[in-house]
Amino acid sequence: MEIASLIKDFQAIFSNFEVPHVFFAPGRINLIGEHTDYNGGYVFPASISFGTYAIATKRSDNKVRFYSKNFEENGIIETSLDHLSYNKAHSWANYPKGMLQTMIEDGHEITSGFDVLYYGNIPNGAGLSSSASIELATGVLVEHLFDLSIDRIHMVQLGQQVENDYIGVNSGIMDQFAIGMGKKDHAILLDCTTLDYTYAPIALENYVIMIMNTNKRRELADSKYNERRSECERALQDLQKTLEINSLGELTTEAFENNKHLISNDTDRKRAKHAVYENERTKQALKELEAQNLQAFGKLLDQSHTSLQHDYEVTGIELDTIVKAAWKQPGVLGARMTGAGFGGCAIALVKTDEVDRFKTKVNAQYKDVVGYEATFYMATIGDGAKKIKF
Ligand code: GLA
Repeated sequence: MEIASLIKDFQAIFSNFEVPHVFFAPGRINLIGEHTDYNGGYVFPASISFGTYAIATKRSDNKVRFYSKNFEENGIIETSLDHLSYNKAHSWANYPKGMLQTMIEDGHEITSGFDVLYYGNIPNGAGLSSSASIELATGVLVEHLFDLSIDRIHMVQLGQQVENDYIGVNSGIMDQFAIGMGKKDHAILLDCTTLDYTYAPIALENYVIMIMNTNKRRELADSKYNERRSECERALQDLQKTLEINSLGELTTEAFENNKHLISNDTDRKRAKHAVYENERTKQALKELEAQNLQAFGKLLDQSHTSLQHDYEVTGIELDTIVKAAWKQPGVLGARMTGAGFGGCAIALVKTDEVDRFKTKVNAQYKDVVGYEATFYMATIGDGAKKIKF
């Protein structure tokens, strides 16, 4: 959708003919490092060129009017700066409302209301972080409309706070960080404890990253996400009775193997095993990528999926079917689910000249098992959340 047409929509929907400001926040994929962020480990995400546009102008009163081209049936959702608390009836608009409220509570002076139209081309429920994208799109728009100057990592943390405290999902920092700090053609290796990060150029020679959408929707709020998090916390508490550690991310695989008997519950032990091994794989992945060892990088992706399937148990028939179909194709170096799991998307590293055949074959095998089709996109790594000049 062109920006010019979004501006026309904005003007028609709000009967507001000022020239609006335009903002964009991407979605994200995670190359590797899944369910490690809230375990004090590393993640390796990248912001993609799909994302959320926000078109906005300030108002002279304190009304805030939201409209989404993705939820046109909800019409304009109107509230005011004094009424920003969570309201089920406001459905999707709770994400930007939550961001606004969190920014105000953080001390930022928002001096008037505004009109805003959103349009996202990230498929909803695909696990590419449409919610973090809308949070960060709102963050940058509020920052610019009200001449605030907010440290970007701080804004990222405010986005996470929205998920944790306002929406009620105990998610980690990965999504908001990838979206707020993304850089064209780079992935970010992030230490989720210290927030130290390294940009790694994604130069994949004659390979591309394919995003495979299972089209099995899921919302984090009703998934087993919070349950996994509690299982890991329990495992950590068992280990802490003997070991002086603050997170599972501090354990090497060797230390884990020597101490895993301290975890009393079998399920919790499997969850912790994933967190520890996945963390090691993630650090290794940066090394392999830097050395252009794409084969080895691909193998780590495969191992990550297997661990998420058997030890962390967050895949499901759709993700397992699509990833296994991908593994079988010629020219594929590796494939795994990406994001929280339970549906949503997987990624595969595919040789450029095999892409067409790959899509046809994987789709056919997927449809055979699952009964409906998958969707494929070529991932392009774009910039993080920003104002757009037009
Ligand atoms: C979701 C959460 C992230 C992260 C991933 C799993 O995307 O929002 O914080 O935990 O799941 O890696």
